[in-house]
Amino acid sequence: MKTEKKNPYLDKILERVRRERGLDFSQYRPAILGRRVMARVALTKRDDFEQYYAYLRFHPEEMDYLMDSLTINVTEFFRDSYVFDTIEKKVIPELFERKKALASNLVHIWSCGSSSGEEAYSVLMLIAEHLGSKLANYNLKIYGTDIDSTALAKANEGAYEAAQFKRLSESRRQLVDRYFHDIGNKRYWIREEWPAYMDFRYHDIIADVALEHMDIILCRNLFIYFNRDLQNQVLERFWHSLNNGGFLILGNVETLYGSIKEKFVEYDTKAKIYVKAGG
Ligand SMILES: C[S@@+](CC[C@H](N)C(=O)[O-])C[C@H]1O[C@@H](n2cnc3c(N)ncnc32)[C@H](O)[C@@H]1O
Repeated sequence: MKTEKKNPYLDKILERVRRERGLDFSQYRPAILGRRVMARVALTKRDDFEQYYAYLRFHPEEMDYLMDSLTINVTEFFRDSYVFDTIEKKVIPELFERKKALASNLVHIWSCGSSSGEEAYSVLMLIAEHLGSKLANYNLKIYGTDIDSTALAKANEGAYEAAQFKRLSESRRQLVDRYFHDIGNKRYWIREEWPAYMDFRYHDIIADVALEHMDIILCRNLFIYFNRDLQNQVLERFWHSLNNGGFLILGNVETLYGSIKEKFVEYDTKAKIYVKAGG
């Protein structure tokens, strides 16, 4: 990977974010951050990072818009259908076979960088379908964590626009119809029985203590923003967070680099699914 240079005023802007919001973007990839901040430079009609830095100092309300721009939370239900087909057909059946063999009823899933919750609800629907009435025998919790409070509020509310389901296949669409109420005005709301399985909360994967005893961690389309050192620091944490043989699921363009590869075994190369090694 080429070393990406940072503009000193971009550094100053990010330092201000760290001071005011407690979020450290210093190990995010500068090219991506630069583009996101540049979008705010253009929208506030400044010429460059230096002018924008001055603007930010005198317009405290701009910090919220900047945060929105930095936390890119594009997501969708069943994003990358092959990945969710593999979760449905391989990962979930194998996980519950193991639980049966271990006589364990605790199931913990973590969608790290969950944005507005679509990924976490997608996994919930697949697990609930797999278990049917046996779901009641399990203590299932699906955690969704993020640093974007607006996205988390949406996840907690569980209300989505119909447009978000438009690209789904017919069978996934039918699934959504069973798990969400059509509340009119082209809006859908998660049915009352499901929020009890979900736990959406603010959590910064860089600064906060990682969750523990996870069976599956999905961390998709977040590492693209991190430099490799930071990716590997986070992967070390995930290794500790996972139960033995636990699954790690990365985004389509994300992969493992360097010595961390020894800590995970490839499970499905195309779907970017790994299994914790050793332990
Ligand atoms: C592009 S979204 C990915 C959403 C979902 N995982 C998916 O693949 O569709 C990336 C999310 O990571 C969140 N994020 C960025 N830095 C984070 C951090 N340090 N800790 C937790 N979440 C973070 C962003 O706020 C954003 O919602």
